Amino acid sequence: MEVVIVPDAKAGGELIAGTMAQLLRRRPDALLGVATGSTPLPVYQALADQVRSGAVDTSRARIAQLDEYVGLPVDHPESYRSVVRREVLEPLGIGMDAFLGPDGSAEDVQAACEAYDKALGDAGGIDLQLLGIGTDGHIGFNEPCSSLVSRTRIKTLTEQTRMDNARFFEGDVDQVPHHVITQGIGTILEARHLVLFATGEGKAEAIAATVEGPLAAVCPASALQLHPHATVVVDEAAAGKLKFADYFRYAHVNKPDWQGI
Ligand code: F6R
Repeated sequence: MEVVIVPDAKAGGELIAGTMAQLLRRRPDALLGVATGSTPLPVYQALADQVRSGAVDTSRARIAQLDEYVGLPVDHPESYRSVVRREVLEPLGIGMDAFLGPDGSAEDVQAACEAYDKALGDAGGIDLQLLGIGTDGHIGFNEPCSSLVSRTRIKTLTEQTRMDNARFFEGDVDQVPHHVITQGIGTILEARHLVLFATGEGKAEAIAATVEGPLAAVCPASALQLHPHATVVVDEAAAGKLKFADYFRYAHVNKPDWQGI
């Protein structure tokens, strides 16, 4: 696992967007897996800037969603499909025909989960999956003690995650759904490159457990330790509890440019 410590969220966003842009230049129809929430927004903004300036062409790019609330109508402004449309597809000029996502309003949720895993496989798999991390170490919505080999399925959010997400629902935790469909940890690990982005002091403990803690389902993000190409991009505040921070800085500064992240 590589850990890159950046000065702030904007620098992290530019670094990750640059990596996505390089991928798209190499493989114009790359399938990018996107997370929602606050953390990835600087990535999408930086990538949209590159599209506007003509530095990258997203006309053949494809986008896959990581997770979705169960029970919210698809056109609800906070359904993750709406969020991905608003924050990713529209700014990047990518149409719904190039979008893959689980159906959180399906009557048969289990069948929708299986269909989504199959659709990802049929699409050739995700080339680069961007991840955020919960204060409890979740990736996607794989809450603590999720199976490390899980597939896309329904999960129950912890009260902590519902409280963390209440800010998207007028601060009212009662409006936050209890259930989600999330790519499983096994599904996430199939992406060819995993990039986890975390900013702020509130994520420092989860990041330390992810990077330096034992591989354990109690910190689902620690599953990144199993992946051959996982990059953790953190600002100084989120890096605040890393014992090996100096080594990570040293390794990044001395890395050959051609290697990228
Ligand atoms: C959302 C997702 C979650 C978030 C995490 C952090 O699609 O997969 O794992 O990435 O809850 O959310 P923020 O970035 O809002 O702190």
